[in-house]
Amino acid sequence: MNPTPTTASVPTASSPLATVPAEARDLLDEVVALRRDIHRHPELGLANPRTRDLIVAALDGLGLEVSVGGDELTSVVADLVGGGGDGPTVLLRADTDALPMDEDTDVDFRSCVPGAAHACGHDAHVAMLVGAARLLAARRDELAGRVRFMFQPGEEGFGGAVEMVAAGVLDGVDAAYALHITPNIPAGFAASRPGSIMASADTFHIEIVGRGGHASTPHFCCDPVPVAAEVITGLQTLVTRELNAFDPAVVSVTRVQAGTTTNVIPERAVLEGTIRAVSETTRLHVHEALPRLVGSVAAAHGAEADVRVDAGYPVTVNDAGAVDLVAGVARRVLGEDRWFELPAPVMGAEDFSYVTAKVPGAMTFLGVCPDDIADSLTAPPCHSNRMRLHEPALADGVALHVATALTALGVA
Ligand code: NI
Repeated sequence: MNPTPTTASVPTASSPLATVPAEARDLLDEVVALRRDIHRHPELGLANPRTRDLIVAALDGLGLEVSVGGDELTSVVADLVGGGGDGPTVLLRADTDALPMDEDTDVDFRSCVPGAAHACGHDAHVAMLVGAARLLAARRDELAGRVRFMFQPGEEGFGGAVEMVAAGVLDGVDAAYALHITPNIPAGFAASRPGSIMASADTFHIEIVGRGGHASTPHFCCDPVPVAAEVITGLQTLVTRELNAFDPAVVSVTRVQAGTTTNVIPERAVLEGTIRAVSETTRLHVHEALPRLVGSVAAAHGAEADVRVDAGYPVTVNDAGAVDLVAGVARRVLGEDRWFELPAPVMGAEDFSYVTAKVPGAMTFLGVCPDDIADSLTAPPCHSNRMRLHEPALADGVALHVATALTALGVA
C-alpha cells in the first residue's frame, strides 16, 4: 500500500479549517522536540511521572482546567472551555506509556532507558495532542462547548483507560476520538472503518495433568505430551471449523512447556497463548469452547485438564457517525485522496475500547511510514524494536485532532 501522492485539496479559504494544516505545520518543530524528549525517556505501565510532568508543563499557560493523577496513575485530563457558549464535550485521547523492550534504531534520540522503548508511537500521540491543545486554545472564542484532552498511561496491557473511565474522564463527554500512528500506512494518509476496528485480546493458560514415569514404559504412565499436541491441533480445528469465516478469531499457542529430560515422561504439560476476536459473539464462543475441547481431548486419553481464560481488552468498536466525521475532516485537511476505509479490523487490541464502549467514538490510524521505505507494508511495524516514523506526518495528526474537535463542536 503506497499510493502515489497527488496534490492535496485544501479547505476553502472561508472555512474555519482552511488554516489548520498550516498552523499545524508551523508547530511541527515544537511537536517533534516534545516527541523526541519523551522518546528518549520512555516510561512503562501506569506510572509515567516524567511524561506527565512534561505534558503539564507544555499545557501551562493555555488556560485549561487541568487535573493531574498521582504517581500510581499518572493521568492528565485537561479541559478547554469554549468561549462561544454551551455545546457538546468532545474528548481527544493520547496514551503515554512505552513498551518493555530495547530499541534498535540509530536515531540520535533513541531510548536511553534499558528495557523500555516507545515502539508503539505513544510518544508521538502525546506530542500531537499537546500541539492540538495549543492550536485549539488559540481558537477558544470560536468554540461552543468543551474539548477534553485525555492523556492516559498504561495502555500496553495495564488498562489505564479503565481506571480513568472509573475516575470519571467520560463524565459529560458526547464523543471521543483517538489517533494511532502506524508506519504501515504511507505518511500523510489516514484510515479507519466503522464498527470493529481492533480486536479483543485474551490469554489462556492450559495445564494437562497425566501421570509421569519412565520414558521406556509409557503404558504405566499417562503421557500429557501427546495430549498437548492433540489440543494444539484441536484448537486450530476449532477456529476453522466452528467459527464463521467472516467473524473470525485468532488462537495462537505461544508457549508449550513440558518435561525436563529425555528419559522421563512428565506429569504435566502447559500451553499458553492468545485469543483475538473482532466480535463479542466469537470471543465468547472461543471462551466457551476452549474448556470443552481441552477437557474432552484430555479425558479421551485419561488425563485431566485445567483451563483458565484471562479476559483482556474487549473489541474496539467505532461509531459509524464518528468515523464519517473523521473521514470528512481527513479529506479536508489532508487531501481528498488521503483517507481510505480499512477493509478489515486490525488484530491488535486497544484499551480505547473501554471509551468507545461508553460513548460514540472513533479510533483512526495515521500513516507515518518513513520516507526511506518505498513500500509501507514492509516498514518495521508498531512494537518492532526497529520501528521508526516520519516526523513531519505528526503535523497531519495535529491538524486531524484540531479539525475533528472544531467539526464536532460545530465550528467547521
Ligand atoms: Ni499503541
